[in-house]
Amino acid sequence: MNNVVNLPPEDMPRQWYNALPDLPTPLQPPLDPETKKPVDPAKLAVIFPNSLIEQEMSPERFIDIPEEVLDIYGLWRPTPLVRARNLERAIGSKCKIFYKNESVSPAGSHKPNTSVPQAWYNKAEGVKRLATETGAGQWGTALAFASRMLGIECVVYMVKVSFEQKPYRQIMIRSYGGEIHPSPSDKTNTGRAVLARDPGCKGSLGLAISEAVEDAATREDTKYTLGSVLNHVLLHQSVTGLETLRQLAMIGEKADYVVGCVGGGSNFGGFMLPFLSRKLSGEDVTFVAAEPKACPTLTRGDYRYDYGDMARLTPLLKMHTLGHSFMPPPIHAGGLRYHGDAPILCNLVAEGLVQARAYFQTECFEAARLFMGVEGFLPAPETSHAIKAAIDLASEAKPGSTIVFLYSGHGLLDLGSYDAFLQGGLSNYALPQEDIEAALRDCPRI
Ligand SMILES: Cc1ncc(COP(=O)(O)O)c(C=O)c1O
Repeated sequence: MNNVVNLPPEDMPRQWYNALPDLPTPLQPPLDPETKKPVDPAKLAVIFPNSLIEQEMSPERFIDIPEEVLDIYGLWRPTPLVRARNLERAIGSKCKIFYKNESVSPAGSHKPNTSVPQAWYNKAEGVKRLATETGAGQWGTALAFASRMLGIECVVYMVKVSFEQKPYRQIMIRSYGGEIHPSPSDKTNTGRAVLARDPGCKGSLGLAISEAVEDAATREDTKYTLGSVLNHVLLHQSVTGLETLRQLAMIGEKADYVVGCVGGGSNFGGFMLPFLSRKLSGEDVTFVAAEPKACPTLTRGDYRYDYGDMARLTPLLKMHTLGHSFMPPPIHAGGLRYHGDAPILCNLVAEGLVQARAYFQTECFEAARLFMGVEGFLPAPETSHAIKAAIDLASEAKPGSTIVFLYSGHGLLDLGSYDAFLQGGLSNYALPQEDIEAALRDCPRI
């Protein structure tokens, strides 16, 4: 029996889907960190190319994918949609479970869907060097890959805890020709200040973002790229949801549940947004976002304006947040350790259109081990959250329902995390309410 649904290459989407015009309530604008007024696009141009700033605010529902980006996508896209029949059998599921396998990209995750266009638009505007942060290393790898494909330089600030946990990610980034520093680093004022206060600091995504933004803002030849959160990143990631809609149509299926893990919200946002119009027109489809209990942004954060980074350099975004000074515990799903989330996704959570669930890391590793034992593939620790949610839903949903989740990346460079899990060395962290409240006290009052 064939479990794999392959989209013919000629049916790969040639346009991305932009959800901004379809949101039931308009998105609140990003605010200038100094004036607290809506940010002037000219100010953003210091760190982003104009074409991406336009996409960030575009009213167009569909945006053409440049030919050269389509050619590079063609190295691994369209990606397979797979019926996880063995998993269904193993858990006695009366529901159908499908996963969209984004781990087949050169970098091993969904991240190249946006690193390639971001590098392309930067290059088209004459940018020679890109600076970015990375959590688990997937985004840094994806940007190093895209920069190499397009012949530009790339520097990556990698959260120190992941830098130490995942040495092979660093090697992969350097093999693509990227430069990499553990964050906090001695390369920026922000990094040096943190190291002076706390030499043992293990870093956070918010801090690494500050370092990369500072790098880009202080050099003429460099712009900043973000691997998640922003509207244009979700736009580029919509290619996964658009392909999945076509693949489901090929086999006469309709998704009842659309599931993904959430760090900054780009894999889940890109996956579920193309299904949004079905929900808005009254169809019964449920969107489920899975996050770690150690960084429970959507389930326990406040919905308010906050900075995207620790040094308060980025615009203020209206989002669910745990506070920009929040230092998440060192869980192994490094890509899910972000204090905020994509404003588009937060808007939908606030509207009650997306539900969020939080899990402990050991129950996610258990789900990943079960998945690997029957489906064969070793998931990234981030992805294991989506697998856990899909397995839970299979026992809660009406028999016959169709559950589709985004398999956001492989875990072949996360074997140290699996080793810790297999040796029983992983702890679970449920955050005390006081810690969350303490970090939220630092949020600006708008
Ligand atoms: C494999 C994988 N999945 C998911 C994520 C979460 O990020 P986002 O929510 O932006 O998709 C990451 C982030 O690094 C990742 O590496």
